[in-house]
Amino acid sequence: MSSGQDSYQICGLELVGHSLRYGSELKCGRLVLRPDTFQCNTATLSRLCGCSYRMEGGDVNSAEGSTIQTTDRGEAALKTQYITNKENFYEFLATGFKSEKAEDEKASAEVPIDGAEEQSREPETKKRKVDGDEQTKDKKKRRGQNKSRPHLKPHSYEAQRLCPSLIQESERKCFYGEKCKFIHDVADYMSTKPEDLGDTCYLYDTFGRCPYGVTCRFAKAHTGPDYKNLVNEELRKSLDRTETVRNSLDKELQRRLRKKQVSFKSSENFLKSISAGKKQHGKSSMSENTPNELRQEEEVSQSETRQEGPAAELKTEESQTKPPPVKTIGPLTDDDIIKLRPCEKKQVDFRDKLYLAPLTTCGNLPFRRVCKRFGADITCGEMAMCTNLLQGQTSEWALLKRHHTEDVFGVQLEGCFPDSMTRCAELLNHNIDVDFVDINSGCPIDLVYKKGGGCGLMTRANKFEQIVRGMNSVLDVPLTVKIRTGVQQNCNIAHKLIPELKKWGVSMITLHGRSREQRYTKLADWSYIDTCSKLAAPVPLFGNGDVLSYEDAMRARETGVSGIMVARGALIKPWLFTEIKEQRQWDISSSERLQILRDFTHFGLEHWGSDTQGVEKTRNFLLEWLSFTCRYIPVGLLERVQKINERPPYYLGRDYLETLMASQHVDDWIRISEMLLGPVPKNFSFLPKHKANAYK
Ligand SMILES: Cc1cc2nc3c(=O)[nH]c(=O)nc-3n(C[C@H](O)[C@H](O)[C@H](O)COP(=O)(O)O)c2cc1C
Ligand SMILES: [Zn+2]
Ligand SMILES: [Zn+2]
Repeated sequence: MSSGQDSYQICGLELVGHSLRYGSELKCGRLVLRPDTFQCNTATLSRLCGCSYRMEGGDVNSAEGSTIQTTDRGEAALKTQYITNKENFYEFLATGFKSEKAEDEKASAEVPIDGAEEQSREPETKKRKVDGDEQTKDKKKRRGQNKSRPHLKPHSYEAQRLCPSLIQESERKCFYGEKCKFIHDVADYMSTKPEDLGDTCYLYDTFGRCPYGVTCRFAKAHTGPDYKNLVNEELRKSLDRTETVRNSLDKELQRRLRKKQVSFKSSENFLKSISAGKKQHGKSSMSENTPNELRQEEEVSQSETRQEGPAAELKTEESQTKPPPVKTIGPLTDDDIIKLRPCEKKQVDFRDKLYLAPLTTCGNLPFRRVCKRFGADITCGEMAMCTNLLQGQTSEWALLKRHHTEDVFGVQLEGCFPDSMTRCAELLNHNIDVDFVDINSGCPIDLVYKKGGGCGLMTRANKFEQIVRGMNSVLDVPLTVKIRTGVQQNCNIAHKLIPELKKWGVSMITLHGRSREQRYTKLADWSYIDTCSKLAAPVPLFGNGDVLSYEDAMRARETGVSGIMVARGALIKPWLFTEIKEQRQWDISSSERLQILRDFTHFGLEHWGSDTQGVEKTRNFLLEWLSFTCRYIPVGLLERVQKINERPPYYLGRDYLETLMASQHVDDWIRISEMLLGPVPKNFSFLPKHKANAYK
C-alpha cells in the first residue's frame, strides 16, 4: 500500500489525509495497523479509535512500536491482556526454557510424561524462523511447500542396526548370512545403541509384547536377562487378536506386480471398449459448451501429443504395466459393463457425516485415529499415485492402510490416464478393504497438474469421463471425486462438470470452494458450493473450505451440502469434530492438548515402530502436525471465534505450555516433541513440508 494523503477505513473509523508510512508497528487493544497495511500517527489514531492506548517505546514511527489489531485485516481478535509482541513472547519462552526443570515438574504434575525425563539439550541454536515475516519474502517462489527441506532419513541416525532375524528372536538363521549388512551380535549392538528414551514402553504395556525387542528405544521396560524380550502373556491372551490394521501389501502380490504378472481382466474389457471407439455416451456436452475449458483441454492434449500422441498414451501405459494376454469374452461396450454395476455395488450412506479430508503427509493413520476419537465419521488415506501402486511400491501401498476404528474409510487416487487408473481401481478392488475410492481431481501441485492429473482433470472432460467410467466399471464400492471450483481464479467450472459427473456415475462429490490459482488466498466460496450442491442432487455433495469452528460448520450446513469435509481445521484442532457434533466451543487446556499429542505419538510408535527409525518417523510426523497446531488460539483468550484465515498475533497463554504451543518456531516444536519422545538425535534438523501458516 502506498503512503500518502489517501483515505483509509480502519475499524469503522476513517483516517483522512494522514501521513501513513511503512516499517513500524503500533499497538492498542482494539485496532491493528500491521506493517503490511499502513502506519499513521499514534496520537491521531489513539484519538480516532477512542481507546486508551499508551505508547510503549516512544514515537510510533520508531521501530519499537508494537501492533494494533483490527478484525478485518487478517488477525484474530484476542482479549487485550493476552496480547504481547514478538520480543516479549520469545523472551518469555526463553526464560521458561532456562527454568525448564521447574516448569517440567509442574507440567508432569498435570500430565504424566512417559519417557520425558527431559535430558539436557545442547544450548539452543539460533532459532530457525518459519513464521509469516520470512515467508512473505519468497512466498511466490515456494507456493505452500518447503522445497529446501533437509532429507535426513530416520535410519541414518543409527550407526549400526541389529539384523531383523535377531529382533524377531526367530529360530531361523539370517537369510543373507555373510553378506548381511546388519549386526548379528546382540551384545555388540547394545554397546553402540543410544540410550533409552523412557522407562515404559507403550507397545509392551498395551499389547503385552513389544515386537521391536532390544531395538526398542524403551527396551529396558521389557528386556530380561541375556537380552530376552519379555512377554506379558496374560495381557497378550486377553487381547482380541483380530487384525487392527488392514490393507498391507502382500509380498506375493508385490512380487507379481513387479514382474507385471497381475492380470486386469475387467479393466482390459473396458479399455478395449474405449479404444475401439464404442463409446455410447457420445461426446461430452461439456467439451462442446465451454470453449474456455476446451482450450485448456487442448493445451494439455497438445503437450501429450507432442510427447507421444493421444493414442500412444494408452499404448505406452499398457506396455508399461504389460499384463499377460488374458482370455476375454470379447469387446464390450462400456454400457454393457456399467449397466451391471450400480445394483451390485456396495452402498455408503455419506449424508450428514463429518469427513476428515485426505491430507498428504499429515493425514497419516495415527492422526486419523486421533480424529476418529474426536468424532470424525469418514476418513480417507493420503493421496496415492496410481502408477506407484501398480508397481507395487511399498511406500505408496502404506498410504492405503486402514485402522480398524476407521469404519467408513476410503482411499484417494491420483492419475491422469484411463488405463492406469482403471487397472489400479481393479487392483484395489481385489486386494484391499475400503468403503469407497476417491479420485483426486483437485490437486493443485505442478508435478501432478502439468501431467493433466489432479485438478487438470477438470479441464480434460473426455479423459476424466473415461477415468470415471473405467474405474466405476471395475469397482464394487462407490467411486467419489474431489474437485475444486476450477483452475483459474474467477472462472468457475465445477457447475458445468457436476451434471457430467452425475451421468458418469460418481456416488459422491466433494467440492473445495477455491480454484487452483487461488490456493489458500481468499476464503472458500460457500455460496458457489451451495449452487453446486443443488446441481449435484440427488448425488451427495460435500462442501469443503475454511471450517474451523462449529459456527463455521453450522453456516456450511445451511447451504444445500450433504456433509462437510474438514482439512486444516482438523489439523489445527482435531477436537473440532466434537465441537461440531456437540455444537459448542471447547476451551481445551494445554495439558489436554499435550495428551492428544501424546496419544498421537503412542499411535505413531505402534504404526511406525518404537526402534530409532520408528521413533524418528513418529517425531517427524508430529513436527509436521505441530506446524499446524501452533495456529490454534485457545477459546478463553479470544474476543470472538477464531477464523481460519486469521493470523494469531503474539500472545501469552494462561500457562507456559499454552504459550509454548503457540510458538511458530521449529525449535519450540522440537522441544514439544522432546517432551513426548525424548531428546532428538545428533545432527537433527527439521523443516516442515507444508507451510501451514498461509493466512493470506
Ligand atoms: C497438509 C495438507 C495436505 C493435503 N493433502 C491433500 C490430499 O492428499 N488430497 C486432497 O484431495 N487434498 C489435500 N489437501 C487439501 C484439503 O483436503 C482441502 O481440500 C483443503 O485444505 C481445503 O480445506 P480446509 O479449508 O478445510 O483446509 C491437503 C491440504 C493440506 C493443508
Ligand atoms: Zn542378518
Ligand atoms: Zn518396546
